[in-house]
Amino acid sequence: MAAPGRNQGLSGNGTIAILGAGSMGQLWAGYLPTGTVTFVPRREVTPETGKSALSYTFQPFEGPEVVVTVPYLLATEARPPLLMVTTKAGDTLDAVESNLHYVSPDTPIVLFQNGMGCQQAVAERWPQRPILAASTTEGANRPTPGCTVHAGKGETWVGPLTGSATTHLRQVVTALGTSGLTVHAAQDIHRRLWDKLIINAGINAFTAILDCPNGDILTDPFYLEHIDELCDEIAKVMKGDTEEALPSITIRERIEMIARKTARNTSSMRSDRQRGRPTEIDFINGYIVRRGHELGVDVPTNQMLTNRIKQLLP
Ligand code: PAF
Repeated sequence: MAAPGRNQGLSGNGTIAILGAGSMGQLWAGYLPTGTVTFVPRREVTPETGKSALSYTFQPFEGPEVVVTVPYLLATEARPPLLMVTTKAGDTLDAVESNLHYVSPDTPIVLFQNGMGCQQAVAERWPQRPILAASTTEGANRPTPGCTVHAGKGETWVGPLTGSATTHLRQVVTALGTSGLTVHAAQDIHRRLWDKLIINAGINAFTAILDCPNGDILTDPFYLEHIDELCDEIAKVMKGDTEEALPSITIRERIEMIARKTARNTSSMRSDRQRGRPTEIDFINGYIVRRGHELGVDVPTNQMLTNRIKQLLP
């Protein structure tokens, strides 16, 4: 375990900074060793403006509930050796931009967003910086304010998006591994992001439109009417985007395996709908629509799901 305040293998002695204190950020902060992590505050923390730490109840996958207290990164001390970005996909580019002033040009930045497109946008904007993406199957949610639950045990793959990120990969994997969560290095992170995109594209919009837990889509007529065409479109766009061909039946099997495994869970998009928050549709089915158009692939089912979500949540 890393000594508090130090992060093995990363340059500098500061704490890992997490930008985005939602359920994914709180999951990682709950597992990383005490004293090695801080949250980036929404506004600068000063003695006058208030709280110096965020406290919440954390229910790990195994073992008793604990209270986690994570200090906020102080502007005066800021020089984190690693920045983990766990914001919603649509907020990522702006969030990174507004925080770069205290992040050294050689500090690795790891993007944890669902879907695709926002990670590439960050890498394209700052191609000289070490930008990495993470694809995780860890499941976390916040059933009530102030309480984060590690609902599903998974794995995390981390890989480089820019040239200079490659030399940081090993240290980043080691630093994230101090959480005790399973973390792997992935040279081809684009492919790993696609593996997750398939699942999100096949589950999230259906659960939000039907307002049901993940498992209930499997017997719903709306899902059954559209799933085969959706998987055909995903297979064609994925082949154009990654050179990797997966049969559409395999795509459907993967979607349904996860829907069964997480049958009682509320997907992140259904939860966004219930709370009236912007969804990540533009980075899930919306991304497939954009790539489909660029690649000359017809994507009417992805378009239909994207439109339906946008009608529900402007
Ligand atoms: O976005 C989500 O909620 C999750 O990635 C998934 C796999 C759909 C399970 O709830």
